[in-house]
Amino acid sequence: MKATAKAHTNIALIKYWGKRNEPIILPTNSNLSLTLDGFSTVTTVHFQEELSSDEFFLNDRLVEDAASQRVTGFLDKVRAMAGKEMYARIHSLNHVPTAAGFASSASGFAALAAASTKAIGLELNDTELSILTRQGSGSACRSIYGGFVEWQMGEKEDGSDSYAVPIASKDHWDIRVAAVVLSATEKKVSSRDGMRRTVETSPFYDGWLKQTPKDLEEIKTAIHDKDFEKTGSIAEANCMRMHATTLGANPPFTYWQDTTMRVMQNVQQMREEGIPAYFTIDAGPNVKVLYLPKDESKVKQRLEQIMGVEDVIVSKPGKGISYL
Ligand code: PMV
Repeated sequence: MKATAKAHTNIALIKYWGKRNEPIILPTNSNLSLTLDGFSTVTTVHFQEELSSDEFFLNDRLVEDAASQRVTGFLDKVRAMAGKEMYARIHSLNHVPTAAGFASSASGFAALAAASTKAIGLELNDTELSILTRQGSGSACRSIYGGFVEWQMGEKEDGSDSYAVPIASKDHWDIRVAAVVLSATEKKVSSRDGMRRTVETSPFYDGWLKQTPKDLEEIKTAIHDKDFEKTGSIAEANCMRMHATTLGANPPFTYWQDTTMRVMQNVQQMREEGIPAYFTIDAGPNVKVLYLPKDESKVKQRLEQIMGVEDVIVSKPGKGISYL
């Protein structure tokens, strides 16, 4: 009744931005990510007869807030699937600098889903695991796999065809992602609230829905062809469009800070100087920069020099779920 799993986080190159069904998390558009080796979560789940409730420890500290309710809510689904009523002690170690602005929920829920289903004796294949993980956190369903991963939105309202599919393995293409950590970061609008407000109120959201399927098809070809310029420019443009929808929301908002924009401008300047580098940004102020291994020292140095940048953490393509 005990299992340990490790999952890595991922960065979306084509964003998931909006739900068509909130309770079971069905997205409004298919999307695509790269799993990263630099950020991971290791989770042990131990179901025990003598427990009268779940106990969730994050980095060795007992958690008793909304985060633990999300974990318990997710384990309720696992218990229902297995037809068992036992509670669990959960130990999660996050190797994701929280300040890096990476959704630790992606590696967190992927590791939780893998460890808890194994511990309770469910034998799920990767597709079934992805479907279950999706209901904990949308972007987490992509972290079941390594490398380049598409989350296919599906058509059914029960969510049975909304899951991640591997597009190219981590060894297909050695590209790099630098997570640029800003000194002052305060996430004010959660991804959940940001999505909801945008879907409900932004007149730009229709444009997002119209363009994103095209971006997705084009980037899949570019990844297949290992066309870095094309992959990077599609990812950057898709990120800009996602963030543009927030400016049209009511009330309007943006995840960007002054340093966010300085980093963006520096990346664009690097391109003008002949270094192929592209950025993408999730639901927070930090920037992730894509580049090729040969440009590593130049890109890293340049990013570290920008005023307001605290740290630059480099990742390679990472692997999917593993059991320890
Ligand atoms: O899965 P969530 O709720 O953490 O939402 C992720 C949303 C974005 O990071 C902005 C985009 C994405 O596809 O990861």
